[in-house]
Amino acid sequence: MPEKKYRILFVSSEMAPYAKTGGLADVVAGLSRCLGKRGHEVRVVLPFYRAIRDRTDSIETFLPSMCVRMGDAEEWCAVRRVRTEHNVTVYFVDHDHFFNRPGLYHDGWMRDYDDNPRRFAFLSRAALQICMDGGFEPDLIHCNDWQTALIPGYLRSWFWNHPFLGRAASVLTIHNVAYQGKYPVGHYSYLGLGAENFVPERFEDHGGVNFLKGGVGCADAVNTVSPGHAREITAPGQGFGLAPYLSNKNGRFRGILNGVDYDLWEPSADLFLPAPYNVEDRSGKTVCKRALQEAFQLDPSDNVCVVGAIGRFVHQKGYDLICEAIEPILRDMAVQFVILGSGSNGIERFFGTLPARYPGRVGSYIGYNDARSHLIEAGCDFFLMPSRFEPCGLNQLYSLRYGTLPIVRATGGLCDTVEQYDEQTGEGTGFMFDDPTPRALYDTVGWAVSTYYDRPRHVEQLAARAMRQDFSWEKSAVEYEDLYRLALSAKADYDRSHAV
Ligand code: ADP
Ligand code: GLC
Repeated sequence: MPEKKYRILFVSSEMAPYAKTGGLADVVAGLSRCLGKRGHEVRVVLPFYRAIRDRTDSIETFLPSMCVRMGDAEEWCAVRRVRTEHNVTVYFVDHDHFFNRPGLYHDGWMRDYDDNPRRFAFLSRAALQICMDGGFEPDLIHCNDWQTALIPGYLRSWFWNHPFLGRAASVLTIHNVAYQGKYPVGHYSYLGLGAENFVPERFEDHGGVNFLKGGVGCADAVNTVSPGHAREITAPGQGFGLAPYLSNKNGRFRGILNGVDYDLWEPSADLFLPAPYNVEDRSGKTVCKRALQEAFQLDPSDNVCVVGAIGRFVHQKGYDLICEAIEPILRDMAVQFVILGSGSNGIERFFGTLPARYPGRVGSYIGYNDARSHLIEAGCDFFLMPSRFEPCGLNQLYSLRYGTLPIVRATGGLCDTVEQYDEQTGEGTGFMFDDPTPRALYDTVGWAVSTYYDRPRHVEQLAARAMRQDFSWEKSAVEYEDLYRLALSAKADYDRSHAV
């Protein structure tokens, strides 16, 4: 019998290439596309951010005017639409006041917008309105992170008896449990969730409102983005306070590893690179290394070991550990460093000024830059991710495919995807360390660098093995289909037990 095909509505605050600050954007784009290719009917709802307004794609008006009833207010917006290949339609919620701003979540000084709870509550409620006004009857609504975590609450209250939304099951994917959307109770009446949802098993949290916690309580199925991280955040005392609520889901909380969109991240076909390469012929990687050295004003050399890092400068990612260890590393080892990222002011300042102190040996770019991120993945020998925690992580997956060996802390998705180097046999795909300390980072970079110079055959062997790893979306998409089945049957059970 053919597999059941679903109508799936994704709701998210990011999706590549339209709006991206991190991995969420890549995941929503890659997973929705893969599910579309697999024959499901997939639609995605996103905010119409300022940067999207300037795009040249053929974005058309779908609904010129839509009214969205919030708890104590009425909002008016328009809905734009773009049809991408593989059955994926993207809807953009065009609300000038909420989304026509410079940033996605905060202004240029990293200050979160004060009205974020309202902006994303509105997005969530608007997504349901699009289904009603636009005639899309989803089997599943797939929510992502706190920004869309009110939807399972809306489905269990307002839309309980709705002719078709009342039948939709909800799935909530937690990409980052550290961000929960916790706000003062003053915002609650706008959300329109009703008194029945302001209880400790749902959205109430120490007198305030917690979007993600309520989403976990109400969703028919929940997952995070690797099995290892799923185990970590259900351990007692973990999960930033959510461990008991996640554990309460019993079998309805899972870990599903993120995939990679190899149409975008594949060194043999990457348009950002000056030369393609693959596992059989890696000569193009040397050309990329030279281009990287030129782009970051490093001394040109094929034979020096280059280490790169890309990401958000936040506590989670452990860049402060790099700050502490990098100068001893530069003192003791023959390496070059390339850093791309933005975030904490202090860390931006540190990496922004380091190249001037180590000319030819350190290059940095403070900000966001897609082209440079591809060049770093291709041109480096090693890629550093000293994360304190990592739900999945995508850069180590990209690094593997680009034959750039990951040096990672043993946590969450990093542990699930990188195999520790075995010095005896030359097996493995990268280098791992346990302690989140500058010392452990120094030692492990030292181990990688000495392998580079002293055991080049092993480095070749590791790189070939890394490049052959397959983290394509197909496998994860099958696991999501299974989660969708689980959500639909959990929803049927819930409906039966609450039938009047
Ligand atoms: P997270 O979502 O926690 O930031 P991931 O490893 O899952 O971490 O994904 C990060 C994604 O964002 C990757 O695609 C990475 O290349 C990209 N990225 C992060 N910072 C930058 C930057 N400054 N410039 C370009 N791409 C970036
Ligand atoms: C989050 C996590 C990261 C994950 C990404 C996409 O931002 O920090 O580990 O890969 O979401 O799921």
